[in-house]
Parts: sequence; structure tokens; C-alpha cells
Amino acid sequence: MAVTLTINGSTMQAMAGASLFEYAEQMGVAVPTSCRKLGKCKECLVEVAEGLDCLSEPAPEEHHLKGGFRLSCRTQVIAREGEVRCHTMRRGRMRIERRAIGLPAGGGAVPLDPAVTRDGDRILIDGVEVDRSRGPIHGIAMDLGTTTIVLRLINLETGETVADASFENPQRFAGSDIMARIAYDTEHRGKLLARTLAGYLSHAIEEFPADPKTIYEMVVVGNSTMRDLFFWRNVYTIGQNPYQSITEIEVAEGKRTTTSLETTGRRCLLPIHPKARVYGAPIIGGHVGADAAACMLAVNVAQEERLVAVMDIGTNTELIVGNRRRILAASCPAGPAFEGGAIACGMSALDGAIEEVALDSTGGFRVSVIGGGAPQGICGSGLVALMSELLRTGRMNAMGRFEDDGQRITLDARHGIYFLESDVNELAQAKGANVAGLHVVAGNYGVDFDGFDVFYLAGGFGRHLNVEAARRIGLIPNLPDAKIVQVGNAAIEGASIALLSQSKRRELETLVTRVEHCRLETHPRFFDFFVEGCQFKPVESLHQVAGCSN
Ligand code: FES
Repeated sequence: MAVTLTINGSTMQAMAGASLFEYAEQMGVAVPTSCRKLGKCKECLVEVAEGLDCLSEPAPEEHHLKGGFRLSCRTQVIAREGEVRCHTMRRGRMRIERRAIGLPAGGGAVPLDPAVTRDGDRILIDGVEVDRSRGPIHGIAMDLGTTTIVLRLINLETGETVADASFENPQRFAGSDIMARIAYDTEHRGKLLARTLAGYLSHAIEEFPADPKTIYEMVVVGNSTMRDLFFWRNVYTIGQNPYQSITEIEVAEGKRTTTSLETTGRRCLLPIHPKARVYGAPIIGGHVGADAAACMLAVNVAQEERLVAVMDIGTNTELIVGNRRRILAASCPAGPAFEGGAIACGMSALDGAIEEVALDSTGGFRVSVIGGGAPQGICGSGLVALMSELLRTGRMNAMGRFEDDGQRITLDARHGIYFLESDVNELAQAKGANVAGLHVVAGNYGVDFDGFDVFYLAGGFGRHLNVEAARRIGLIPNLPDAKIVQVGNAAIEGASIALLSQSKRRELETLVTRVEHCRLETHPRFFDFFVEGCQFKPVESLHQVAGCSN
């Protein structure tokens, strides 16, 4: 008798007594660690999707973990039979991505004037010597998402992207959304969220094909909470009305002139050069953070004549509408559903994720998987494609109900991938929040959706999303193809631009002060728009919103 144990899609028969970490080693699954299984580093996280009752009770070292999260070195298999399915924090494939297609500020138009320069063997930051070396000069751009983190290593002398990495945010053990993280950080001592993240970032940086000590600057973007947690700031105030970061409060009180933050590599506990500057880009206001600011830089809204809209879909969706004359921005608390969170077989758009789904004439599913291996779950673009296909073939109605009275649709029986009617509810609510945000921001700007000259669709899955499917289910406005530009991760593009160009960084600092922050939670019709947006049907402008204001 044995337990059937699956870790990251690999399966073996496990006998009682050994730890999940030891079984992972036998399967060749890499588990992050800095303490060699002593229960000290808290990095060997696994998320148990099935079979918690086959495992030992949480050890004292695990009492900080919520939900199905466990430390694999502290968790033994104790049952004699059963099934356990778990995974480490998932990672993306190391790949070199060129700049996002369709971005006006991309494609080599960015002036190469980084803050880190060389004078012979002297390495300077803002003209001040920090090192002596004839080796290369690197920088890192980082998009710190609630669910997924993206790092890009850039040669600061050539502007070339050397490598990138992406992985699930290990802070998920404290809850999937921003409010849960704020509550956790407030209730627990010891900055566990920041420390755990630093461990994961250190491993990712050490795996880059460059000496970490050649990394002299890092630009960090993320929503206000993620950014401030990274900088070891207290985030309590962001969770309380009027939802402001401490930096925003201090600017209002005249104690500082910018919401941007600076520290050093040493203080961040990262293995980069100890004197490296770590720059947290400025936030816009409330939950509208440095990621939204970075998106604005990437789409070059400061110089834009046309009216552009940006929808950066994530656990917190950023919305921007504007041009060089006026810019509005908002943040929608959509939740993690479109990043695979709160979905039974959901996962981030990383290796092993089903990213495209089609229903053939026999009712069978054809899927494509990121990385080409066996499917481990479904990511946002796969979920959008799946719901669109179910709608198109009449297997799901506009209210999100399955028409055959079942509550579960199996995509891949062999790998245990299925989709539940309750998943549709999660996705409907995420969609409802995004669409309601769009109605409010467009309404406050005084335009219909037809008034957008360009609609930039951004986000971890934005580039791979099937636009027709997104329109059919009502995730994006019902605009013609010619107006919709998929730009992938615009936030990492913006962070890269700020890393490579001091003039662009200054532009960013000015730009955020010009943006009107649109507070969705105070809008009287937000709930009506939300209910409308929860339905799976094309999204048209609600003309009566034009001209309304907060
Ligand atoms: S390996 Fe360090 S806590 Fe498990």
C-alpha cells in the first residue's frame, strides 16, 4: 500500500514516513531552500491541492501558513494509501523576450541614459563611485505582482535584455489578494512576507547568467501594497479608508516630495551589489500603484495625442484612460481568478498551463500548453478561451450556468484538469469588477468606449489572449480589432524603460502627479455596473454614464 504522490505533475508511490521535500528530491523536482531542510528559511513552500489528510499535522515552523500551504521539509506523508497532489511555487521558462509589440515607447525609441555609468574601471551611480570593475554593468527591472513576479536582467551599457524569469509570488501563503496580505503583515511580526520574497528573489537572481555583483540598479514596480511590502514598509494604512500608502500620506503632509522609494541591495537582503540602488517607482494614489505608472510610461501616454485606454488585467486590474492633456487611472479589486487563483485547476501563465482551448465538432477539447509538456492547470487566457467556447456551443449561458445541469466539465481526464461552475462565479465577479471599473473611468472621462482610439490590453496573459474570445465573454469592450493592441506585460516594459533612461524616469515622476485618481469604491453606480459586468455577453457603453463624475 502506498500514497500516490504528484508534485509538479510528476507522480510516484510514496510510503509513510518521508517528507514531501525528500520525495521531491527523488523525483528531481527542485525545491527552493536556504537552510537544507531545517525548517528555518521558510522557502520550501508547496501548495497542496488534494490530500491534506494524508499528511502530518503542521509543525510549529509552519504556523504562519494559511490554506493548503505547507513547508515541504516539515511535512511527512503519514497515510498508507490515498492521493496527494501538490506543487512548489510555479516558475516560468527562462527566455529572452523582446520589447512588447505595439508599444510606442518600445522598439528602441528609449534614450539609453541609465543612472549607472562607467568611467574607466570606475562604476558610478549618479556620478558617485560605488565599485571598481571592468566587467559588465547590469540592472534588473521587476514587476512585483500579487500573484506573479517577473524579473528582467538588462545590460545597462547596451540596453539588451540578457534573461528574464517569472514565478508565482510566494507571499500567496498569506492569502491571494491584497487585503489578505495587508491583514497578514499587520498581524504577524517579523516581516515574514518580505523575508520569504527576498529568499525567492535571491534564488532567481543567482540563476541569472551573470554575476549578481554586476547588478548595480533595480527598478521595482507593483501595486502600492506589493511595492511597499518589498521595501519593508508598514502597509496597514493601504487597507484602511481612504486606502493610502504611507508614502502618499507623507507627500500630502509635506514630509517628502515623491512617493518613489530608494534603498540598497544590502538592505533588501538581495545578492546584488551591496551598494546597488533599488528604486521603487512612484505610485499614483490609493491602490493605483507603480505598476500602473509603469504602464503609462510604456504606452507613452504623456506624449499621446490620441485617446488611449489601458487595461492591465491582474489580481488588481489597472485602468488608465487619457492622452497628453488629461489622464484618469483606477485600480479594480478583481481578485486572482484571471491569474488562475481561486479556480479549482487554475494557475498562472507559466509552464504547464493550458493557454488555449477549442471545442471540436464531437464536443472534445483541444488544448495547447505553455512549454508543450503535460498540463498542470489552466491560466487566464485558457479560462477565457474555455468560457468563450462553452458560450459559443451553448454549453454555458450568459449567466454562467452550465446548460447540462452538471457542475463540472472535464478538459483532460488523464491529468485531472477540470472546470467547475463555481469557477465561473469567481471569473464572473473578477470580470464584473473590471468592466465596472471601465464604465466608471470612461464615464468620468466623458467618453463612450467607442471614443477610445486605442485599447491596450495588457497583463501577464494579455499578449496570448484570444481577443475574439475576450469580446464574446465581455472581458473587454466590444471594439473592432483595429483598435485593440495586445501588449503583454506593459508594467515590466515600463520598469525597463525607467531602468534604462534617467530622462524617462524623471518623466515618470512628473507624470504620476498629473494623473487624476478615480476612486471606484465611492462611485454611486459601481455596483450596478458590476452586476451588469458579471454577465457573459459583449460589453457595450452604457451611454448614461458619459459625463458622470465622482
Ligand atoms: S528547507 Fe528551509 S524551511 Fe524547509
